[in-house]
Amino acid sequence: MAKTRTTTSHYEVQKLRRSDWLQFWKDNQRTIITEESVEMVDTPRRMKRGVMVSADGDVPSLNLDANLHSIEPDTVSTIHRHSWDAIMFIIEGTGWTEVQGRRYDWRPWDTVYLPGGQWHRHGGSGPTPARYVTFSVQPLVELLGLATIEDGGDTPFEDLQGGALSAAQMLGADPYSRRVSRLSDLQTAASETRILTPYEDVPFRVTPRGARSGFLVDSSLGYTTGGITAVMHQLAPGLYQSKHRHGGEAWLYCVKGEGYSVIDDERVDWKAGDLVIVDHWAWHQHFNASETDVSSIIRVHNFDTLYFAMGALLAPLNLFEEPEKLDAPPNVESIEWPDVDQGRPDA
Ligand SMILES: [Fe+2]
Ligand SMILES: [Fe+2]
Repeated sequence: MAKTRTTTSHYEVQKLRRSDWLQFWKDNQRTIITEESVEMVDTPRRMKRGVMVSADGDVPSLNLDANLHSIEPDTVSTIHRHSWDAIMFIIEGTGWTEVQGRRYDWRPWDTVYLPGGQWHRHGGSGPTPARYVTFSVQPLVELLGLATIEDGGDTPFEDLQGGALSAAQMLGADPYSRRVSRLSDLQTAASETRILTPYEDVPFRVTPRGARSGFLVDSSLGYTTGGITAVMHQLAPGLYQSKHRHGGEAWLYCVKGEGYSVIDDERVDWKAGDLVIVDHWAWHQHFNASETDVSSIIRVHNFDTLYFAMGALLAPLNLFEEPEKLDAPPNVESIEWPDVDQGRPDA
């Protein structure tokens, strides 16, 4: 009979594992990834990819990842699908993305949503290479042990396998039939999600925090995502947004202009093409460094599932805090704003 001889108990093992885990993420915390630090490399998809944050580029993260992509004119990528969903934001150039065989044409500052489990490929259609940035929940899905990717190469969409489909509705009122029916409804909703937000459709409004903001991907626009959402914040010339702090992280990709963020009293300067990562529970406030032009940043997070779950699991711990009186610019209503598409490239 085997006899347990270990002297280290479950208590010590867990304690060490937890502190190693936190230390690992602390060591990998980054505040800014500049565009020029990203190396673009050829991939078998006939596109170039540059890792901003991902274990694929030795920059691991827990929840979100970010990558830059480029595709040459008259080039069509291979087709693939993966179990996580992603958001694409077009930086420059024109092209198209096919999702489940349906084509969506895009141009600079349009946003495309790539649902988990749906086959997709991309094409460049302009005279110059197209570039876009993607954000996905791949790291979180990998952490849960659910990350899968299928590569269809050049197989036509019609010849590819269907998804791991949930069973169709069942009529019974028993617990099993109820589960099957609920998951069937969820799958139907996910398959009917919106895919494209043309930039001209972004519903910009000036918020009490002082920025002019509009959702790019959100349930209010008809998206059904795994929790990932994106907003564009525009900071008025010479102005800023009210500060706040929250759990999780906020990822900010600068599309246009230049500015800086004050994160727990440290100033981080950024410009178009850079990615700023605000660590959890750090006070942060974003400033436009230009007196004449708008600066635009995209905020991406995974609040709608991961942080909602954390909020419920950690209540009554508070996961969001802002000053009782917002420190937004005075007279937000009377700010004179340039056109929303100031600086938008034609292609
Ligand atoms: Fe993909
Ligand atoms: Fe924030």
